[in-house]
Amino acid sequence: MNVPHAQTDALFPAVRRLVAELEALPGSVAEGLAVEGLLEEREGLCLYGLARRAAPLGTAVEIGSYKGRSTWFVARGLEDAGSSWPVVAFDPHLEGTQDDFHANLARTGVAARVEAHAAFSHEAAPAFDRPIGLLWIDGDHTYTGVCRDFEDWFPKLALGGWLAFHDTVNHWHGPTRLVRELLMRDDRLDSVGVMGTITFARKRAPSPTNRAAALAGRAAFEAVTLLRARRMGLGPVNAAPGER
Ligand SMILES: C[S@@+](CC[C@H](N)C(=O)[O-])C[C@H]1O[C@@H](n2cnc3c(N)ncnc32)[C@H](O)[C@@H]1O
Repeated sequence: MNVPHAQTDALFPAVRRLVAELEALPGSVAEGLAVEGLLEEREGLCLYGLARRAAPLGTAVEIGSYKGRSTWFVARGLEDAGSSWPVVAFDPHLEGTQDDFHANLARTGVAARVEAHAAFSHEAAPAFDRPIGLLWIDGDHTYTGVCRDFEDWFPKLALGGWLAFHDTVNHWHGPTRLVRELLMRDDRLDSVGVMGTITFARKRAPSPTNRAAALAGRAAFEAVTLLRARRMGLGPVNAAPGER
């Protein structure tokens, strides 16, 4: 996304803490970038770090796998934390990516860690009853779709668990709009951070302190959108038809 990391990291204490942990990463984590996908290196490292932190709490739920790049980073995070929980990955693979997805996971040695479902996230949500430590949302990018995923799955995320959305900070209209709204009104989120176009936060019990933390996160989020605007213009880079 071309904005220097130092500028955006300075805005988020939660990112600086995560990056400090990630500096101790095994170099093999870069193997994930060999999997075809739509995630930048720093976004992969972000997911890896969140998955490691979330590992004691439960499964990692991935909405939108494509060919498995983000799946790989989440799986490696759980693996390296010694978790026995799987990544539970949902994608209907309407664009025919299912074979590549499975081949990539097998080739890179993480297939056993991934429970893959060729299904829409909203179809799977009602029956899902295992604890969730990381909720990673990168599926339907329409505003309606991303809101539905949040409403379906956030109640199932454990307290202390991590929520992450891809393609925020004006990369896509839908996730950006939802994250803006959540950071304005929600009192269940703290430790807000932006890495690349991922916005992450930790789920907490409702409190006024969290509301203040989320509002501070919103101010920093808007600062990132302005830094990006110098290179990419104001407003979302991508939007579903009829959305802006
Ligand atoms: C942006 S790609 C995901 C990229 C992937 N996370 C990566 O690291 O490369 C979006 C994916 O979401 C899937 N998708 C779209 N709507 C979905 C839904 N309702 N539930 C689950 N997956 C969905 C699409 O099939 C597509 O593969």
